Amino acid sequence: MRHLIDPMDLTVEQTGQVIALAQEIIADRGRFRDACKGKKLATLFYEPSTRTRLSFTSAMLELGGEVIGFADARSSSVSKGETVADTVRVIRCFADIIAMRHFKEGAPLVASQYAGIPVINAGDGSHAHPTQTLTDLLTIQREKGRLDHLTVGFCGDLKFGRTVHSLLRALSRYEGTKVVLISPEELRLPDYMLRELGAGSGLEVREVRTLEEAMPELDILYMTRVQKERFADEADYERVKDSYVLDLEKLKTAREDMIVLHPLPRVNEIARAVDNDPRAAYFRQVENGKFVRMALILTLLRWAGENRPFERTPVLAEPYGVGERTCPNPHCISATEDVDQLLRREADGSCRCAYCETIL
Ligand code: NCD
Repeated sequence: MRHLIDPMDLTVEQTGQVIALAQEIIADRGRFRDACKGKKLATLFYEPSTRTRLSFTSAMLELGGEVIGFADARSSSVSKGETVADTVRVIRCFADIIAMRHFKEGAPLVASQYAGIPVINAGDGSHAHPTQTLTDLLTIQREKGRLDHLTVGFCGDLKFGRTVHSLLRALSRYEGTKVVLISPEELRLPDYMLRELGAGSGLEVREVRTLEEAMPELDILYMTRVQKERFADEADYERVKDSYVLDLEKLKTAREDMIVLHPLPRVNEIARAVDNDPRAAYFRQVENGKFVRMALILTLLRWAGENRPFERTPVLAEPYGVGERTCPNPHCISATEDVDQLLRREADGSCRCAYCETIL
């Protein structure tokens, strides 16, 4: 059974196939109208969402399939204390494929161990968001005509922003990618990501503190929202929430063919006036999200029919050990649910939690 928990669960080639299929769908939508007739998607959303959930829903409806699920964990048995493992064992009786968003990091990976049907991670805590990555890649392909030899600036909340973590990982596999990380000290990438990018990832990485320093060299500027809901202390959020605001003045120093991406929702980080600039690609990006999810649903259902095994690709490929040590991250699914503690030993002897990737 194949799942999409992390963008690296797809090889570069498979990622390219999903993007190509999305482009076929865009070119001839009528051809796919009944492609999922008789199939059901369950959307299990334990955390707020507008775009992602509705984009999964409209993707399945456009394929002729049906959608069940919940958008608020309080209306499901979770409020009675049901575990993720039990919930998906129930859902598998009703649906053919699951899209799960959860506030606990690693919850979709746990779901994939019990579901028996394909599970798609629709965002887990501040960890990963692989379908946003596919959306971003399709957008980059359509807007720039390629996925390699690009200089990409990531600006804002690089610590809690799961879309950033997933896209960085995906981009590290394309030749000639240069990355500029633009964040305040408090919102730098998590350690496990910094280590990964440092350790021969093939990415050229530079860190700066201001947008102005990076702007002129960028092909793509990926703006992000400061993730208010992940801060333990409101005062910490207030201090960094307006660290970066992209306005027309700053955009003047950018290339004519640069594009601005944002996974949305936007708060203050992009001035409304920027929306009218042709370089603002974030609303076009939203529509790409539906097409790429159509392509992904079709692909995973086809693979489920072929009974393809779930092989994790390099970053996560080495065998996991069931450890005696426990993950210290309170936001990890292993902190609240009774799951096997899975750890991976790193080359330097440290251990990484399989669910949330925190380094122990
Ligand atoms: C993002 C998310 O949920 O991580 N939104 C989305 O899925 N398009 C980004 C965010 O919430 O800031």
